[in-house]
Amino acid sequence: MKIGILGLGTVGGGVVNVLSKNHQEISRRCGSDISIEIAAVKDLKQKRICSTDGFKLTENSNDVVNHPDVEVVLELIGGTSIAKDLTEKALKNKKHVITANKALIAKHGNELLKLAKDNSVSILFEASVAGGIPILKSLGQGLTANKIDLVAGIINGTGNFIMTEMKEKGRDFDDVLKEAQALGYAEADPTFDIEGIDAAHKLAILASIAFGVELNFEAVSTEGISQVDPEDISIADELGYIIKHLGVAKKIDGRIDTRVHPTLIPKKRLLANVNGVMNAVLIKGNAVGPTLYYGPGAGDEATASAVIADLVDLVKGTHSNDEFCWKQLEKANYIEKDNVESIFYLRILASDKPGVLADITSILAKHNISVESVVQKQIDADNNAHIAIITNKILTKEMNKAINEIQAHDYITGTVKIIPVETLD
Ligand code: HSE
Repeated sequence: MKIGILGLGTVGGGVVNVLSKNHQEISRRCGSDISIEIAAVKDLKQKRICSTDGFKLTENSNDVVNHPDVEVVLELIGGTSIAKDLTEKALKNKKHVITANKALIAKHGNELLKLAKDNSVSILFEASVAGGIPILKSLGQGLTANKIDLVAGIINGTGNFIMTEMKEKGRDFDDVLKEAQALGYAEADPTFDIEGIDAAHKLAILASIAFGVELNFEAVSTEGISQVDPEDISIADELGYIIKHLGVAKKIDGRIDTRVHPTLIPKKRLLANVNGVMNAVLIKGNAVGPTLYYGPGAGDEATASAVIADLVDLVKGTHSNDEFCWKQLEKANYIEKDNVESIFYLRILASDKPGVLADITSILAKHNISVESVVQKQIDADNNAHIAIITNKILTKEMNKAINEIQAHDYITGTVKIIPVETLD
């Protein structure tokens, strides 16, 4: 099998290194040799993490997608413009494509899968979700007997690394982000990591495979980690929770809910203990029950591991995205954001005077919201009480109505903070 590589950055370099160091093992598993024919790079003179001996290097990507001997193109450039154009060219030239590009699949996967099918080739993308964890293969192969009703995961390594370092070591946000960039974890545009867009790309892919529906990135409601306040981390801790940036996809009565946001999860859950660049995905199937997948969510060789697993599957003809490629996927019915039910954490800043807490809880009660736990943290220099409340499960629209009502009172001295809670039981 002769391959061509588009991009020799973190992931491309990792693929070359892993193919070289595990050459014998990979060939044994494939039953044939994989050889790199050509690789395209932006700048021939740039320093790389891998050796480029033994294959041709070019600055012209078309040399890869048009190469007559190349059977598989590895798209490891990222982004959705040049990468999309080159992926389309490769598929039209009847070359299989393996990509680590979650943005490309989440946004254009439906049309690219159709293009692959029309040209009798495959497009595989294990590395696009959760780095080195073989999560798409688990869904597509190991869990095929199940109806899936929940996928919940920490699926952005950079975000989890930042939140862990801030919580454990009190480090500064920007300082940790710089380290994540130096380690090759972060996206070219790190706001994709911080604002949850990268996790939303990945969640759209997971939901599509888990529920057998078309890819729909636009349906994922997305909130990042930039608004997570150290005070909420510490109050959540006191209440028995950890705040994680979670992607959640649920199927409830045939309707789908997909969202990415900071989430309180009970400390005793395994997901609560997933730290640093590690990712983890919880999947609940109606036959197997809950299953959990854990591993590095970013990094050169971890991501290369997933890219090469697709390559081996392709050589052996055992890849599992046939149902994804060849059969008609359903159009999904999504639950409107207002009608999503959740438990909520509220943090309210109010003047410290008699009757305030009673008034807040009576507004909640009027909207049929009961208080599961409450703490009043401290009175600050301006005589503000910091009140944190965990509610029962309630429709988002009811919660919002109650918050608007609370917010309108003149004893409220700051914007009411609201974070969803997932018990994951
Ligand atoms: N920027 C991504 C992350 C890379 O941090 O998870 C892996 O998709």
